[in-house]
Amino acid sequence: MKVLGIDIGGSALKGAPVDTKTGELLAEKHRILTPERLSPADMGKAIAELAAHFDWKGPIGVGFPGVVQGNFIRTSANLHPDFVDLDAAAVFEAAAGAEVSLVNDADAAGLAEVAYGAGRDVKGAVLMLTFGTGVGSALFVDGLLYPNSEFGHLSRDGESWEKFVSGSAKDRLKLDYPEWAALVNEYLQKLEALLWPELIIAGGGISADHDKWFPHLKLRSKIVPAQFLNEAGIVGAALHAARAL
Ligand code: BGC
Repeated sequence: MKVLGIDIGGSALKGAPVDTKTGELLAEKHRILTPERLSPADMGKAIAELAAHFDWKGPIGVGFPGVVQGNFIRTSANLHPDFVDLDAAAVFEAAAGAEVSLVNDADAAGLAEVAYGAGRDVKGAVLMLTFGTGVGSALFVDGLLYPNSEFGHLSRDGESWEKFVSGSAKDRLKLDYPEWAALVNEYLQKLEALLWPELIIAGGGISADHDKWFPHLKLRSKIVPAQFLNEAGIVGAALHAARAL
């Protein structure tokens, strides 16, 4: 099946048509920058613009950085508050004139890694974490997703851990890799104590620099970088749509 996969992020949305059998992009991905927080209606327009760029009439899978239940978005920690409890699938479908399926962005990234990447054929508990604007998580058991885990919002002194260990927190707090890695280590050890994953897959732009921070981690579980780097969200959103629509 061919699905247009779209990954909505904190500062841009990007997409490409995906062959959901192989996980391959069928065209070079296209990005629309969103320096301002977009309202749901404007996000619908941006999705329609992406579809028009590829002259796309088929199904669309959208990854969103918040809790997603069916067609509804339930949380929006880093995007517009009007997404909360919105039937966003209906808004995006009306704008793009195509069928739309929604999934949490980190769940999408994890689905891609488990199907075609670093988590392929791994048995037991696998935890995917994305270190970007926020921290996203996706939890799998024998390849099956437990949807909407939100481990970026575990509390550290009353604030979400993502405020300290996301990629954007590293920049905002002006931390070098050893300093940031020390925080990430503390965070991951907490997750390990709760979940005991066999494998942790680290994604998000910062995972490309894994050789600068993995050596500072002292974990029981194996940790590996995501294989898809920045495309996992696109591929997984398409894969989810192919299964859901
Ligand atoms: C959101 C998650 C999302 C993560 C990464 C968090 O703030 O609550 O749903 O997966 O950011 O974008």
